[in-house]
Amino acid sequence: MKSYIHLSYFCVLLAKINIITAQKYDCGYCQPEQVHIAFGSKSNDIVVTWTTFNDTHESRVQYGAGALDEEASGGRSRFVDGGRLRRSMWIHRVTLADLRYDTKYVYHAGSVYGWSEKFSFKTPPRGDQWLVRAAIYGDMGNKNAHSLSYLQDEAERGHFDVILHVGDFAYDMDTDNALVGDEFMRQIQPLAALVPYMTCPGNHEAAYNFSNYRSRFSMPGPYESMFYSFDLGPVHFVSISTEYYYFLEFGLKMLSTQFQWLDRDLREANKPENRARHPWIILYGHRPMYCSNSDDIDCSVEYTRKGLPLFGAFSLEPLLQQYGVDVVIWAHEHSYERTWPLYDSKVYNGSVDQPYRNPGAPVHIVTGSAGCQEETNKFKPAPAEWSAFRNSDYGYTRFLAPNHTHIYFEQVDVEKGGEVIDSVWVVKDAHRPYNI
Ligand SMILES: [Fe+2]
Repeated sequence: MKSYIHLSYFCVLLAKINIITAQKYDCGYCQPEQVHIAFGSKSNDIVVTWTTFNDTHESRVQYGAGALDEEASGGRSRFVDGGRLRRSMWIHRVTLADLRYDTKYVYHAGSVYGWSEKFSFKTPPRGDQWLVRAAIYGDMGNKNAHSLSYLQDEAERGHFDVILHVGDFAYDMDTDNALVGDEFMRQIQPLAALVPYMTCPGNHEAAYNFSNYRSRFSMPGPYESMFYSFDLGPVHFVSISTEYYYFLEFGLKMLSTQFQWLDRDLREANKPENRARHPWIILYGHRPMYCSNSDDIDCSVEYTRKGLPLFGAFSLEPLLQQYGVDVVIWAHEHSYERTWPLYDSKVYNGSVDQPYRNPGAPVHIVTGSAGCQEETNKFKPAPAEWSAFRNSDYGYTRFLAPNHTHIYFEQVDVEKGGEVIDSVWVVKDAHRPYNI
């Protein structure tokens, strides 16, 4: 009798375990996808982000230098798209903190229900005395992504330490109940799972108050990827949302918050001890302050440059002068344009022979020709005097920051098989506010 009771108890226990197990494995769509990485709060923290369509109840990354012998856990949040079907998915985020510098890591992301394929990335070297290499572009969609194969090729060959995607993704991430967003994130995975993919929002992300953008990316800081900064080698990168100036229906609060944050961030970056280590300040946002395209009004309304209509509130160009921002990068126009050093529509070249050596104002670069279904934008026949070079072919920008005095930009034309059609060195003996 006693053994019968024991047996019954054991069977009940087994049944319970089976029930629990059955519940735990009730995870229909739990294979990780859309894996991408970004820098965390410092350059040896890497945040891994991915998507599953059901809740996996855990978010884990197994990783290591050579073997998957370490593990980190994180969290997940349910994202519900604002479209008619209210499609939902789970976005997982895990921070790999305090990684060894200048080290190749392998990783996979997932849970007991499924792991991604194995990816690798290399952490940057320690400190500021090393060559930063970046790809920079905006306006890349699912369809007609001309530059994507070149970018993937270069990313897989280890050519980039960081990628900056300066707004406008997928066209649009919310389209077709966010299926287009899923497809885009799959499409960039071969780059974005290998190289920190740093972003800013563009006008194409505006639906449901930028919810797809805010949910799918994981930029540093507390502002849901809308604005942030990070240091890499000798560069202090600053990312802003120009879209706060144009989608006022979402309110002024975040515009005001961003403006105050930007003022603080740039002031901090200019403290002697910070500017000594990261002397180059490069700011990027989606809609340009200057452009000479034929079909666009955004550069002529000048909300970001001069501030909001009537009151001129939150005007950004004075901050560029006040805090000695070296280069500003934009997209939105589906073309490439480089300006002379420029402030308030006036040119401040360093000298006649060397316009970019110790320039008297920031240099602006518009690079929004990576490729999307809206094709490229043409230019006005006669540009203003501040326009130094412009081209409407599909392509992307390469950036090098070798040291404290020199940085380099070049434009890759993918319609010409990857030919470099423009290049410029910006040289500065000292970094300080402009004397304008
Ligand atoms: Fe745009």
